[in-house]
Amino acid sequence: MTTIRLYEVRVSLEHVALAQNTFGALPPPLPNGAPRRYALDGINLEIRHGETMGILGPSGCGKSTLLRAIAGLVPLTEGIITYDEQDMNGVLPGERGVGIVFQNYALYPNMTSYENVGFFLRLRKRDAEIPQRVREVSRVMGIGFRALLDKHPGQLSGGERQRVAVARCIARDPKVFLFDEPLSNLDAKLRVQTRTELKRLINRYRVTGVYVTHDQHEALALCDRIAIMHEGQIEQVGAASTLYERPFSTLVATFFGYPPMNLFEGVVVENIWQSNTADLHIPLGRDLALGEGRRITLGARAEHMHAVSEGGLRGQVILLEPVPTQRAVLAYLESPSGKLAAQLPLELGVRIGDRIGIAPDPEHLHLFDTRSGRRL
Ligand SMILES: Nc1ncnc2c1ncn2[C@@H]1O[C@H](COP(=O)(O)OP(=O)(O)O)[C@@H](O)[C@H]1O
Ligand SMILES: [Mg+2]
Repeated sequence: MTTIRLYEVRVSLEHVALAQNTFGALPPPLPNGAPRRYALDGINLEIRHGETMGILGPSGCGKSTLLRAIAGLVPLTEGIITYDEQDMNGVLPGERGVGIVFQNYALYPNMTSYENVGFFLRLRKRDAEIPQRVREVSRVMGIGFRALLDKHPGQLSGGERQRVAVARCIARDPKVFLFDEPLSNLDAKLRVQTRTELKRLINRYRVTGVYVTHDQHEALALCDRIAIMHEGQIEQVGAASTLYERPFSTLVATFFGYPPMNLFEGVVVENIWQSNTADLHIPLGRDLALGEGRRITLGARAEHMHAVSEGGLRGQVILLEPVPTQRAVLAYLESPSGKLAAQLPLELGVRIGDRIGIAPDPEHLHLFDTRSGRRL
């Protein structure tokens, strides 16, 4: 069992490039025009022993760099990473007891699966243990794995390669599992199948794990907690239900959960919040020192938007998606407040092209400071 902690970890883009031997391939500047200097920009995170932590964020936000920093594959520019209180600075990747599975499998192409799985033991000059270990791992990997053992990676399908990569990771009996988008090269059906297999392995070993993905379904299915990353920083860490029910920022609210939370910008006038488009007025009966004139963004999930006959927002239905498990339909509307999503009961019989009124349920509003995007 291992608890991993990151304290104020920064990794400069130069260090990222250095670690990967790709000088000069610096990324585009940030949207505000400032040059980007850090792939990781002040990360504080605790991964408790036995839990699987998901790292979820869009492409380029620093997920792989975070995983590589934990593995010791990229040097820290600033900050500290500990395993069970022990500073990992100077501890080589091979000495950290981590097993890594990469997106591109990273198998040795000139070795058979058997040799790939046994490679770690060979490296340690423990060749005598290899047959026994490969047998054990094959048993854990389950049906059909043995048939892959004398093939080379070139003779295997993507799914089979990934199984071998996972087996190689297990064979070294790691204290920590690290996964970097292990399923994203697989087609949809295989992805779900392999996900189930990974889940079984994670449950079986219950070692500390870090699972990097840009796919929230994967994070939901495999992780105990999820860290939402954005531009080298962590926006929020929590169980999926927390991220969904109490997003810490508009960024999390629109990134996590499907569809993205509806957001309405507005201002407080005499304790009543009014949308900028003047079609919504909501008394804020809350003990918040909101302050007259304060700019506040209201958020409401699609399932908390209701059809209303009068008032509310008027919009035209442009797309419908069935939600059969709820006897409902997700309606996407074009409105003066932009695109909105509302989950409506089937009985309403809404059709594309209809103009309808909807309003957020006042019991289920999320309030954010418009300027900072932070939850109030
Ligand atoms: N070899 C490299 N050289 C320079 N910059 C890189 C290199 N690899 C990644 N980066 C930059 O580092 C940042 C983080 O990348 P990465 O950790 O790979 O993100 P993610 O895994 O979330 O897609 C990005 O801005 C990316 O452009
Ligand atoms: Mg990546």
